[in-house]
Amino acid sequence: MTGANKGIGLAIAEAILREHADTFVYLGSRDPERGRAAAATLARVDPSWQARVEVALLDVSDDRSVAAAAERVAESRGADTLYGVVNNAGVGSGDGADLATILQVNTVGLRRVCETFLPSIDPQVGRIVNVTSASGPSFVATCSPERRRFFLDDRMTWDELRTFIDECIAIAGDEAAFVARGLGGGGDAYGLSKACANTYTMLLAREHPNLRVNACTPGFIATDMTRHYAESQGKTPAELGMKPPAEGAKAPMFLLFGSPEGNGRFYGSDAKRSPLDRYRAPGSAPYTGA
Ligand SMILES: NC(=O)c1ccc[n+]([C@@H]2O[C@H](COP(=O)([O-])OP(=O)(O)OC[C@H]3O[C@@H](n4cnc5c(N)ncnc54)[C@H](OP(=O)(O)O)[C@@H]3O)[C@@H](O)[C@H]2O)c1
Repeated sequence: MTGANKGIGLAIAEAILREHADTFVYLGSRDPERGRAAAATLARVDPSWQARVEVALLDVSDDRSVAAAAERVAESRGADTLYGVVNNAGVGSGDGADLATILQVNTVGLRRVCETFLPSIDPQVGRIVNVTSASGPSFVATCSPERRRFFLDDRMTWDELRTFIDECIAIAGDEAAFVARGLGGGGDAYGLSKACANTYTMLLAREHPNLRVNACTPGFIATDMTRHYAESQGKTPAELGMKPPAEGAKAPMFLLFGSPEGNGRFYGSDAKRSPLDRYRAPGSAPYTGA
């Protein structure tokens, strides 16, 4: 799992260890110290988990780092395949990242991890879970009808999506250029990156129908990513409706171990199917594809 050293990623790791005793977790962290600290946190919860966790040094934005992590995991697994990959690492606009960095981490980095680890995933039962965000569908809702069709295109190729991402990076900061391309919410780099990650999830599932590949939002969760927002509002995370990280692990856990119908879909934090082009509130009727 990527970005597993804190926040929702660490909560997913804890849920996997607690709920599935036959698992082994590669705790992805781009920083060795932060990875070790997270592993130590888990070991304090249950010392027996120590034997089921290994820190995997992995920066999703770096080819060599991802390739080295895949090699290390392959070495450690021997002949065993991986059951699943959870792409949780992400950056938000509040982290001070620019549009290029946000797209490089949240979309291109996510794809890099999928492609690099695909050969190691069990071809019969393997799963990929992409932790995206409801900001993706909310972003698509602001786009022109033609651009909406682009994000929903189930024949999209990575080359087409990558070309579009590069185009967006080239026009960063030019609001008018975004609007001209049907991207109404051009300033929302995070929503754009998550919309692209949802579209990528759809194309990845199409290319690998043997695997279960889906995306979800964890919900509105109190983590370092959302802390700045709470501070700017002068309210506590709870007052703003944010939930603890363990709640954010629920939809990813459903996609990893539950029985999601179909493939390449996007799920809400209530683990119900949601559309790619508009927000669906948790608890409301699931999207049926109509
Ligand atoms: N919190 C929410 O309300 C919310 C809502 C919707 C979606 N999400 C998504 O949920 C996921 C987890 O977010 P969070 O709220 O738990 O945020 P967080 O606490 O800030 O954790 C983000 C994680 O991603 C890692 N990361 C960032 N850039 C990376 C890179 N280049 N390579 C590898 N790891 C990297 C971070 O590592 P470092 O510690 O080294 O920075 C950290 O482990 C993200 O994809 C986020 O977009 C969150």
